[in-house]
Amino acid sequence: MVFHQALVLGIVLFAATGKAQVDFSYEGEDGPDHWAELYPMCGGSRQSPVNIQEDRTKKTSSPALWLYYPGSIPWEANLTNNGHTALLKLNPALPITLHGGPLSAPYVFQQLHFHWGSNDSVGSEHAINSHFSTMEMHMVFYKDEYGSPSNAAKYSDGFAVLSILLDHNENGNPVLPPVVWALQRIQNYGDVTNLDTGLALESLLPNDRHLYYTYPGSLTTPPCDEAVTWIIFRQHVPISSEQVAAFRTLKTEDGSLLTSNRRPLQPLGNRTVSLVSFSSSHRRGSATRRRGQHGRRRQ
Ligand SMILES: *[C@@H]1O[C@H](CO)[C@@H](O)[C@H](O)[C@H]1NC(C)=O
Ligand SMILES: *[C@@H]1O[C@H](CO)[C@@H](O)[C@H](O)[C@H]1NC(C)=O
Ligand SMILES: *[C@@H]1O[C@H](CO)[C@@H](O)[C@H](O)[C@H]1NC(C)=O
Repeated sequence: MVFHQALVLGIVLFAATGKAQVDFSYEGEDGPDHWAELYPMCGGSRQSPVNIQEDRTKKTSSPALWLYYPGSIPWEANLTNNGHTALLKLNPALPITLHGGPLSAPYVFQQLHFHWGSNDSVGSEHAINSHFSTMEMHMVFYKDEYGSPSNAAKYSDGFAVLSILLDHNENGNPVLPPVVWALQRIQNYGDVTNLDTGLALESLLPNDRHLYYTYPGSLTTPPCDEAVTWIIFRQHVPISSEQVAAFRTLKTEDGSLLTSNRRPLQPLGNRTVSLVSFSSSHRRGSATRRRGQHGRRRQ
């Protein structure tokens, strides 16, 4: 019995350190074509990203989608090179939550991260009418009632991800410089740095948050949990070539350059993508609320 318990504990520790698992990459023998060998869910039928054909979307309307952010902004933020992306965490006094739209309950902000490609013509994971953007930013939220991201991953409605598509232009993105500057301090796998200035999450969203695509999908990295309600804004935001180039200087765990970190398109199968807009009665409010406005009914 003692032996049996020790054995079980040993296996749990082995799994928890992750040493038993081969990590994933974006090319070669650990690349996307092989993810399902180690992470079976990556071969499922509800995977992301997908190509969104706008003329095949279902046009619907929905209650307002809004962020609730307590206290003063902006918040302290840190940026990590996890070998697969630049991952940003915020340190608000209280959780930032996402409400409304296709969501039936509050979702808590966990992290945001970026996907890019080897040149400015490719980079986003999702495609709209078969067209890729230069980058894609994912803001990941988990369902509050599930308590933690790891528990949320077990449920089909565990996560909501806000996706923002970025297209290259000359002027670049006015909000991203603190993130871009911080990239040079996280060149190597495992590096973490604080941003020089705080960050307000909603400043990264497009101005028009009233129109978005939504569909049921998965995380776009192993283990590819089929637990995500995707919310992809129809309006894009800008980024300059210099800004994207800074992301391509990050290195992976084995020291090679992370020039591209996008998963290829997955079959949509029998899933429906909705194009959601608000009826005029919803349009008067903004998509964000601060403390004090919480609970106030909009017109
Ligand atoms: C980064 O910020 C998150 C959220 O505040 C915090 O939990 C984490 O400890 C920070 N990491 C480092 C290395 O400072
Ligand atoms: C950009 O990269 C993609 C994928 O590697 C490639 O197919 C395409 O030809 C490249 N475009 C340019 C303009 O270099
Ligand atoms: C869609 O297809 C999957 C398997 O490919 C199946 O499990 C699911 O029931 C189907 N859903 C509908 C609504 O047909």
